[in-house]
Amino acid sequence: MKKKIGFVAGVTLVGLALLSTRFYMVDLPVWHFLGGGKAPDPATLHLAGEFVESNLGAAEDPSGSLTVRMIAQQFVFVPQCIVVPAGVPVTFRITSADAVHKLSFLGTDYGLKAAPGAVTEATFTFAKAGEFKIPCHEFCGAGHYAMRGHLKVVPRDQFASLLPGERRTCEPR
Ligand code: CUA
Repeated sequence: MKKKIGFVAGVTLVGLALLSTRFYMVDLPVWHFLGGGKAPDPATLHLAGEFVESNLGAAEDPSGSLTVRMIAQQFVFVPQCIVVPAGVPVTFRITSADAVHKLSFLGTDYGLKAAPGAVTEATFTFAKAGEFKIPCHEFCGAGHYAMRGHLKVVPRDQFASLLPGERRTCEPR
């Protein structure tokens, strides 16, 4: 009897050790399971679905409302520079390719968490034109302190004249 208990305890320990070291492997399917399979897979974000490169940045939805899609990853935001119009509600949808990150729009009260396997959505209105730094406010690894994006808020008519490609990113090329 004692031997049996020892055996069960041993198997349990090995199982726990495996789980604790390979947690990142079971992590994703669990997220998918809980999210009904609709959550983006961090491993294929760039390849298919809502967060492919051509779909990032600011774009008008069929309903006419403005949505900004972004990816946070160690240690950049993609796109690095986003442009939105002033005085218009802008919906942000963001996910992470790896760790948990947090965007904060410096000089405003707005912030947004990005987690792998999930999409965070929030709607913000930036009252006036201006430029804002977007530092990462959640420790995410060695490059955390250098992780920052850029937000350009431009007057409405200026935004209206931007081509779709110019709304995707305002990074200088
Ligand atoms: Cu990303 Cu800290």
